[in-house]
Amino acid sequence: MKDVIVALDFKDRAQTLEFLDKFTDKKPYVKIGMELFYAEGPAIVKEIKARGHKIFLDLKLHDIPNTVMKAMKVLSRLDVDMCNLHAAGATAMMEAALQGLTREDGTRPLLIAVTQLTSTSQEAMERDLWIEKPIDEVVMHYAENAKNAGLDGVVCSPLEAGKVHARCGEKFLTVTPGVRFAEGDKGDQVRVTTPARARELGSDYIVVGRPITAATDPVAAYERALKEFLG
Ligand code: C5P
Repeated sequence: MKDVIVALDFKDRAQTLEFLDKFTDKKPYVKIGMELFYAEGPAIVKEIKARGHKIFLDLKLHDIPNTVMKAMKVLSRLDVDMCNLHAAGATAMMEAALQGLTREDGTRPLLIAVTQLTSTSQEAMERDLWIEKPIDEVVMHYAENAKNAGLDGVVCSPLEAGKVHARCGEKFLTVTPGVRFAEGDKGDQVRVTTPARARELGSDYIVVGRPITAATDPVAAYERALKEFLG
């Protein structure tokens, strides 16, 4: 089910709740990242969940399979709807993550893989990581690994969504940041697309931060993103 996910890139609970208090009608699907989670801990996740929001917990796990399995078990108890890991942790880690995430009743949050971080360039990949293949191929290979390990999708650019679907199937989810309104400020994002274009390109979920959180009227900006993305 396609949706707009609002990135709660705030430093603490007070700022986050001040923002969420503006939404009285529809409760947006939200993303909690490392900054807020490390500042406030699991309590903030439970509190936002109790307020009626769906949650993508963006903690990008990457460790040995046993550690990731146990950590995912803890996250599944937080009742989040989506969480993620680094595909660079390899197949055994991804399979262990799924195992840890699956609750006793068989349900589990969606599990999404980060392929190569968008901050990693071809040059850095070759020089620091000693990976010498073209970065697009590395991204697609990691996406296929995630798919084969049983994961639900990847985080990628909307511009890559079509290619990911072609390689991994239409049902394999693409969760895509890098979204801006047509006349908006790009900030530090380089390759950006509008919500409407992201829909055309096949994104399943768009992750939108500053165009909504820094808007003069965040609720109106959210409604606009929803309308443009869902069509
Ligand atoms: O403010 P903005 O819309 O750029 O926020 C995008 C959100 O998506 C941020 O939380 C950012 O960390 C995250 N993200 C990203 N690019 C990636 C992965 C995650 O912008 N490749």
